[in-house]
Amino acid sequence: MKMTNTTILSLALLMAGLGIPNFATAKDKQGVESLPAAQGLVTIDTAAPSKLYSPMIFGGFIEHFNDQIYGGLFEPGSPLADERGFRKDVIAAMKELKLSVVRWPGGCFVSGYHWKDGVGKVRKPVPDPVWGATDPNTFGTDEFIEWCRLVGCEPYICTNAGNGTPEEMKEWVEYCNATEGEYAQQRIANGHEKPFKVKFWSIGNENYGPWEIGRKDADEWGPLVDQCAKLMRAADPDITLVAAATKKEEWSLPLLAAAGKHLEYVALHEYWFGFQSRNMTPPYKDCIMRSEGPENTIVTMLGILDKAGCRGRVRIAFDEWNLRGWHHPGFPRKKPLEAGDAEAAEFIAKRDINKIHSQYTVADALFSASFFNSSLRHCVDVGMTNIAPIVNTRGPLFVHPEGIVRRTTFHTMAMYANLLESRVGKCAVDASQYGGGKNPIAVIDAVATVDESGKKWSVALVNRHPDQTADCTVKLGERLLDGTFDATILDGDSPDAFNDVEHPNRIVPQKTQLKFENGVVKLPPHSLAIIHIQ
Ligand code: AHR
Repeated sequence: MKMTNTTILSLALLMAGLGIPNFATAKDKQGVESLPAAQGLVTIDTAAPSKLYSPMIFGGFIEHFNDQIYGGLFEPGSPLADERGFRKDVIAAMKELKLSVVRWPGGCFVSGYHWKDGVGKVRKPVPDPVWGATDPNTFGTDEFIEWCRLVGCEPYICTNAGNGTPEEMKEWVEYCNATEGEYAQQRIANGHEKPFKVKFWSIGNENYGPWEIGRKDADEWGPLVDQCAKLMRAADPDITLVAAATKKEEWSLPLLAAAGKHLEYVALHEYWFGFQSRNMTPPYKDCIMRSEGPENTIVTMLGILDKAGCRGRVRIAFDEWNLRGWHHPGFPRKKPLEAGDAEAAEFIAKRDINKIHSQYTVADALFSASFFNSSLRHCVDVGMTNIAPIVNTRGPLFVHPEGIVRRTTFHTMAMYANLLESRVGKCAVDASQYGGGKNPIAVIDAVATVDESGKKWSVALVNRHPDQTADCTVKLGERLLDGTFDATILDGDSPDAFNDVEHPNRIVPQKTQLKFENGVVKLPPHSLAIIHIQ
């Protein structure tokens, strides 16, 4: 929450009543005015009902792009892979994240992908008209399902609404889920007697975008989704359906009017820095100032769901998100590339810029924490989110031929997936501002979770300030916290710190104990803390 003069005043009065000193003023090392000094009050209402959230809030996305799949999670012949070619170290890392759901195979890629190319004994390489590579098709539906089973996550398939057809989508559902018929027989012949039972299906990817193969107008999209949904449900009535949407009313209202009755979710995508053509490395402050963006997007989308009369029945799947958009200058293209296209080869090589480790810092970790906090706060309406991607490019896990590096965002995800309780409690945050200018942000962000008994709380606290320790007062029900509590902290020796191959553990979560005195805990600068209160 941002501090208005009235809230500053009421907070000051409240703190005075609690015996807490009034806000002081300060500047950070970069001279950015932050008035008053980093501090805040987190009030947890223990009497209010808590809400169960979906573990699919901590999901991932993987696309046939660069080395996310080939040379990422799938590397036949690697000493680190199993006999099928799945990297065992990657699978173990996904288990550390308790990865709940993975969306595949794209992204823009899917709008030129035909699933039949990726099943069966004979797989032919096919030119990828979107990203300019040749897809060997050795990783297709069967491999995706098998990988998800090994990781223990739900498969979520995104269909081709670009140059694909509604019939192709229906047949894909049949291949995965039917017990009889031509496509069920194909699956059985490919060695999979039992249906895959893929529950989550999306119709299309960003079909509103001029960059997408087979872009659709708003008035075309709803009727097409309606047609696809009917066919896919005829193949399996029990599937859960998502459709490509946006926070723009002019696209999403017609979609919901024409096809909302079939949908359980609308998909949202956002990268808070575009970065596709030019690679930039904005400083910590610029990154952290975007931290309230996810909440704003969710609230905007909820307004659209309200307006369409779908809120409560249709939820949000934020099925691509990341602070930074992927670097792919010159792409996506919409046609297969000529062999030997030198310009394309040069552009493709530039994708390696995504691998520069110093780009993924504590800023990414704390932005991601705020993304999760926003999704958890809206857990009634947000049922799934998918960091894009989960492996390589700008994802939390960097995979290379000799091993893996857990980037800062990996640790944020792991902390949220492993250390929180199962329900979200009511929690208000009043905090001083950071950043100055027209749109300062709250220096502290928080979410409070509780177990089923209502007795065990795990509270995530983010201090966004780059160099000030924040005095954070936590009030749990009627009491100000006092005493020492178990906690896990992620910070690092600088806001710009990062992990890389040579220093994979420069930033790792530390188990510690945090002391509260008269409600106040000192949160280290640029930190995420998860505190357990029995
Ligand atoms: O930059 C990657 C692309 O970003 C994904 O393929 C697409 O869905 C999004 O626009």
